Amino acid sequence: MTDQAFVTLATNDLYGKGALVLGTSLRNHKTTRKLVILLTPQVSNNIRSVLERVFDEVILVDVLDSKDSAHLAMIKRPELGVTFTKLHCWALTQYSKCIFMDADTLVLCNIDELFDREELSAAPDPGWPDCFNTGVFVYRPSIETYNELLRFSTEKGSFDGGDQGLLNSFFSNWATADINKHLPFIYNLSSVAIYSYLPAFKQYGPDAKVVHFLGNIKPWNYSYDSKTKCVTSAVHDSSSIVHTEFVSMWWDTFTSIQPMLTEYGVSKNISPDKQEEEKLSEAISHLSVSPPPPPAPMISSEERRKNWEQGQADFMGVDSFQNIQKKLDTYLN
Ligand code: UDP
Ligand code: GLC
Ligand code: MN
Repeated sequence: MTDQAFVTLATNDLYGKGALVLGTSLRNHKTTRKLVILLTPQVSNNIRSVLERVFDEVILVDVLDSKDSAHLAMIKRPELGVTFTKLHCWALTQYSKCIFMDADTLVLCNIDELFDREELSAAPDPGWPDCFNTGVFVYRPSIETYNELLRFSTEKGSFDGGDQGLLNSFFSNWATADINKHLPFIYNLSSVAIYSYLPAFKQYGPDAKVVHFLGNIKPWNYSYDSKTKCVTSAVHDSSSIVHTEFVSMWWDTFTSIQPMLTEYGVSKNISPDKQEEEKLSEAISHLSVSPPPPPAPMISSEERRKNWEQGQADFMGVDSFQNIQKKLDTYLN
């Protein structure tokens, strides 16, 4: 099956490590399809070399960024504008059908049967089940669709600032048109959904085929003890609680590829310090530097008194309470 592929994306080293775990999990479960990763130039050469060992194709793409901070603020994920980069997956026309998977997913068994589905098949989003989640979806590469999506992104934008809002508006009849395009939830079991319907998780969780570590805390934000197989949370955020057995499975796979990472000079630990460093440098790269505001023009004390008498005191500047108090103090002293 050389014309079908699993496709993922990484725009930095942390997601690159996530992609390595995903790729390894697909190989461990003996997929017969190709593995492809889209990378942006920010990913280091070391990680890239390891990705070249796990993936059949490593494809360099430009970053596409919605820069839509207003909508991204609603999902509290200002960094997800770059998920527009996912759209490049439609340009992979060397394949007739593909399955896109986020770099924060992990497969637990062979899922090649998903290639029997048609574009656009995906599982419901746990937050709004009439929308599909774009962490796992079946699609057909096509330059026509690719161009339409790019045009749509500039003309209409995305209601969540990321690819999911855009793709749900583009494939707008997903919720109602064809039930065959609704993937069972076990193909995209999101960690955040587990706590919202715990009894269902207990009942059906053991059938999970793909786990999606959706939310701002990823498996690489935990630390792991490979002897006890215990994970501990490095960051605390009550809004996204993850079942640690899945995080522990992620780390188990990550540990198995550590010798390869070491061979290519990739640091052994994903230390919290390093993560903060990477997050910071990423945040800085998104900052646009604007010059400081010009100082307020100086005005004569005559003019100032006139303004004051007309009720136009400069309370934030020269006429601030502190300045008035200072003046009174000098008189009193
Ligand atoms: N992604 C990336 N770099 C980023 C953010 C996201 O490469 O800085 C890619 C990566 O494949 C990731 C996907 O876009 O899995 C979607 O982002 P994420 O999984 O963090 O979103 P969530 O599923 O948590 O909403
Ligand atoms: C969702 C999806 C993710 C997507 C993000 C932004 O939570 O899981 O794949 O990138 O929304 O649209
Ligand atoms: Mn994700």
